[in-house]
Amino acid sequence: MENPFKFGMVVRGADFCDRKKEMTDLIHIISSGMSVTLISPRRYGKTSLIINLLDHLDGYKKVYIDLMSVVSLNAFLEKYSSEIFKSAGGLKKFVNKLNRMIKISGKISLDIGNLNLEIDVDPKATDDVENIIELPTKFDGKFVIVIDEFQEIMNITEIDLVSILRKKFQFFQNAVFIFSGSKSSVMREIFSNPAKPFYRFSQIYELQNLEIEESRKFVTDKFRSSGVEIENDAFEKIYEITNGHVYYLQALSYHLWFLTKDKKKAEIPDVYIALKKVIFGEKAAFESLWDELTPNQKKILKILSRNFSPYSARLSAGSVNRALESLKKIDLVDKNGEFRITDPIFKIWLNSYEK
Ligand SMILES: Nc1ncnc2c1ncn2[C@@H]1O[C@H](COP(=O)(O)OP(=O)(O)O)[C@@H](O)[C@H]1O
Ligand SMILES: [Mg+2]
Repeated sequence: MENPFKFGMVVRGADFCDRKKEMTDLIHIISSGMSVTLISPRRYGKTSLIINLLDHLDGYKKVYIDLMSVVSLNAFLEKYSSEIFKSAGGLKKFVNKLNRMIKISGKISLDIGNLNLEIDVDPKATDDVENIIELPTKFDGKFVIVIDEFQEIMNITEIDLVSILRKKFQFFQNAVFIFSGSKSSVMREIFSNPAKPFYRFSQIYELQNLEIEESRKFVTDKFRSSGVEIENDAFEKIYEITNGHVYYLQALSYHLWFLTKDKKKAEIPDVYIALKKVIFGEKAAFESLWDELTPNQKKILKILSRNFSPYSARLSAGSVNRALESLKKIDLVDKNGEFRITDPIFKIWLNSYEK
């Protein structure tokens, strides 16, 4: 039998744990014509939530743009316009109309093999850029346009693209936007700073970890339907370790299922063995992360991993604050009342290894 848990890929359908509340909230926002900005640390389930949300939305042309590997203005424009054409019925359909729909002084052509557009505009030709951005307004019907890992837009430095996007997007009558991003501090800066162009453009939605009952149902149903009985305290242990972090909930359950599929019973000692496998899988990434940190950042993380106050470090309050701020900036620490380490498995790794 195939392992019922999946991690490291976007999950859909039965592999996706409902997130009923989030789904209802987001459908409500989108269908009332508002745009939304999803913010959370990486691997909290933003992309999966968005893809499942798109599956639920009817009557829209759906555009999904991931900015993760986009580092230049032309690459952005190519991706943006290719995805818009695709959602409107496929690029082929528009081959002959291309130059009428996008009137620019720069070059635009179709790469037939990959069905992508090739665009070459001069960053100084702002009109060209604006004309391409306006593409959705040339179509009938409503668009929902997702721009995932939106903070990467800051890597495009040839022009002030953020301002141009805002200037154009606000006049689109037929589109709503879903922005999403994992670098929380950059995202908040773009969308919640009154001095920045996207201030108040969208409703900010901070995605949280899965709550316990939804997690319990998801995990236990999957174990049961694949013939393994999971004891309730074993599930409770999983939740205590992962705190509802969806990626780790899947990863830990994946290893636990594999360990227990023959004896058909999952118990607490098995959870600890599965945890070792999860930590082993993340070890290399944690180690290289650790190597990049300053001595003060390391000190503070170690203290937080033991649930002590960061101010109990033998450092001046100023140094503690500076270290905390810098750790927040790289999303290793967040503050929800108290400072805590964002990644629950990183926290365990910090606590259990002598460094
Ligand atoms: N609603 C969900 N139900 C079950 N697993 C999920 C869910 N959302 C995310 N996951 C798991 O978490 C992993 C990371 O999710 P992803 O959507 O890529 O997060 P993000 O976009 O926030 O980085 C996925 O590979 C999947 O294993
Ligand atoms: Mg993602």
